Amino acid sequence: MYAMLLCKDGNGGLVMNKIFEKRKYHHFETSRLILDKLSNSDEKLIYNLYSDSKVMKFMQSKIMKNKKEAVKYINKMNKMFKSKKGIRWAVSLKKSKTKQKIGTFAIHYYDSKSKKAELGADLLVSYWNKGYVSELVSFFILNIFKNIDLNRIEIRCMPENKASMHIANKFGFKYEGTLREFVYIKGKGYTDEMVFSLLQKDLD
Ligand SMILES: CC(C)(COP(=O)(O)OP(=O)(O)OC[C@H]1O[C@@H](n2cnc3c(N)ncnc32)[C@H](O)[C@@H]1OP(=O)(O)O)[C@@H](O)C(=O)NCCC(=O)NCCS
Repeated sequence: MYAMLLCKDGNGGLVMNKIFEKRKYHHFETSRLILDKLSNSDEKLIYNLYSDSKVMKFMQSKIMKNKKEAVKYINKMNKMFKSKKGIRWAVSLKKSKTKQKIGTFAIHYYDSKSKKAELGADLLVSYWNKGYVSELVSFFILNIFKNIDLNRIEIRCMPENKASMHIANKFGFKYEGTLREFVYIKGKGYTDEMVFSLLQKDLD
């Protein structure tokens, strides 16, 4: 499916460790978006995102109540990065003069032994359905996944999250099943989790 589109950018043989170690992987640009590794200055973005009940509807965590929780979250992301378990980028709009931050994109739950990880994304509601996350997933597959020593990448979502499911299908991720009542979330109860995966060999 992707063979015709491959864009070799000189990263051939890239190992996941380099993503954590080399600054050049902390900043990426796609045609409409800029990605910068999440930093302490992203407190407002994180609070605006995760305090919105619409954004949080299909997420497996509680709605943020104050900015302190945003700071705590960023600290958690910093720890995740330092322990080489994942990286989350803040996503900004190229065309906006102020480089408006609109959401986040992540490679997380990285398992160095099994060479697998999960993709994560969330945008402020006014930026939904404009193809931004499709652009990020496409960029990830063609410019990162294809060139890196990851064997498997997953998209996981609740069955009610039709947009995520649609994106997984659109990019050729294979539906593997639904983990029933997999996560307990206070206020939501037990929630199911759908698992989609893309393997390196699926790109051949
Ligand atoms: C899920 C999310 C990241 C998608 O980002 P996005 O930039 O809006 O996605 P895109 O515009 O690239 O693509 C969305 C696709 O889903 C489709 N879609 C959206 N809502 C849909 C629905 N209810 N039913 C079916 N398809 C739907 C859109 O039509 C679009 O399809 P297309 O690519 O064929 O045009 C965004 O909605 C979001 O931030 N949601 C809240 C946080 C969240 O749930 N994150 C994911 C956790 S697993």
